[in-house]
Amino acid sequence: MDHRTPSPASRPYGLERQTQIFAGGPGADSGLPISVELREEKARAILSPRAYDFVRGGAGSEDTCRANLAAFRRWRIVPRMFRDVSRRDLSVELLGLSLPAPVLLAPIGVQSIVHPEAELAVARAAASLGIPFVLSTAASRPLEAVAEACGRAPAWYQLYWSRDPEMTASLVVRAERAGYKAIVVTLDANLLGWRERDLSHPYLPFLDAEGLANYFSDPVFRGHLARPPEEDPAAALRYWSSVYSHTSLTWDDLRFLRRHTRLPVLLKGILHPEDAALAVRYGVDGIIVSNHGGRQVDGAVAALDALPAIVDAVRAARSEMPVLFDSGIRRGADAVIALALGARAVLLGRLFVWGLAIAGEQGVRETLLNFLADFDLTLALSGYRSPSELSPSALVREAA
Ligand code: FNR
Repeated sequence: MDHRTPSPASRPYGLERQTQIFAGGPGADSGLPISVELREEKARAILSPRAYDFVRGGAGSEDTCRANLAAFRRWRIVPRMFRDVSRRDLSVELLGLSLPAPVLLAPIGVQSIVHPEAELAVARAAASLGIPFVLSTAASRPLEAVAEACGRAPAWYQLYWSRDPEMTASLVVRAERAGYKAIVVTLDANLLGWRERDLSHPYLPFLDAEGLANYFSDPVFRGHLARPPEEDPAAALRYWSSVYSHTSLTWDDLRFLRRHTRLPVLLKGILHPEDAALAVRYGVDGIIVSNHGGRQVDGAVAALDALPAIVDAVRAARSEMPVLFDSGIRRGADAVIALALGARAVLLGRLFVWGLAIAGEQGVRETLLNFLADFDLTLALSGYRSPSELSPSALVREAA
């Protein structure tokens, strides 16, 4: 028996959740399968085929979706023994925030196609555990309403940089005013990838005016319309499709963003070490190594395979800029591997969307509780008490 008092900073996520589930207590009965694969299957049965395909799908052959997952299987954790893991602390400091664990929810657009409460349900679930929610520009609810649902819990805002500079500035200023703590600029989706599932249906939720709440509520956007979107949605949609993307952006445009916000700026979608070095040179506050879950470039490198060289490039530039990671995180072991390879935190994507489809806010909360429990136990059983103790020496690479 452990005779020491647990530190208040350490919460035994693993044991708490196991106890709750084995006792069949509250939170164990929302119908959310424990198995991640069964969860996706259950969500598939609930969602319409086109909504499921929109979430599940990727670019082209979906080879990069598969590669994202396969890349994790090439690394193996080598557990250490006799290391007193009785007191664990999963918390991390990230861009001025103190987070309970190195975990965030990735920006996912149009959540209304998955659940009627959409981003509000997800924001509440994340806030109940102090896990930051990253709200997409392509959200189904205006950013101010989502900020309110987050309460005092931290949230970040993901920017799709519009062709109209005034519109971009307006979104960023609104996000800062609403209390978001960072701006995540997504760089890998200035065009929509060639997604065979969506093209086959054919289905693009934006054409049903889903996922456009941040535009339709924006004063600059509305100022360009003869009649408000509520009265003439077709005209609003036409205008949106003319301004939503900006394919001629370059690194120097970052200065524009800095002129409009004092918030930390992160770049999402970095895969090349030279781009990581440029991010350091341009004074960016953080980067997210990601291939958008394999939804943009068919044949793109698996995000995990891109991570080590990027971490090395940032180190070589003598920078402390945090490197975050997404694309393929499904279980605790995946987070341990990504952190050991140098990620400061990981973002969950499709994983929480299946929870949302199955049981709304409660489904997302349970997804997070299960994930944190699995992460906590995998970390402890591997011989580590905190994310900061992880390094590549915790892993071996499987022979090819
Ligand atoms: C996304 N992603 C995304 N990213 C972003 O920056 N803005 C967005 O609006 C969206 N929208 C979106 C919708 C859906 C349905 C999916 C599945 C993904 C990408 C997301 O933030 C993240 O990079 C991936 O989801 C990570 O891959 P996995 O772990 O979900 O496979």
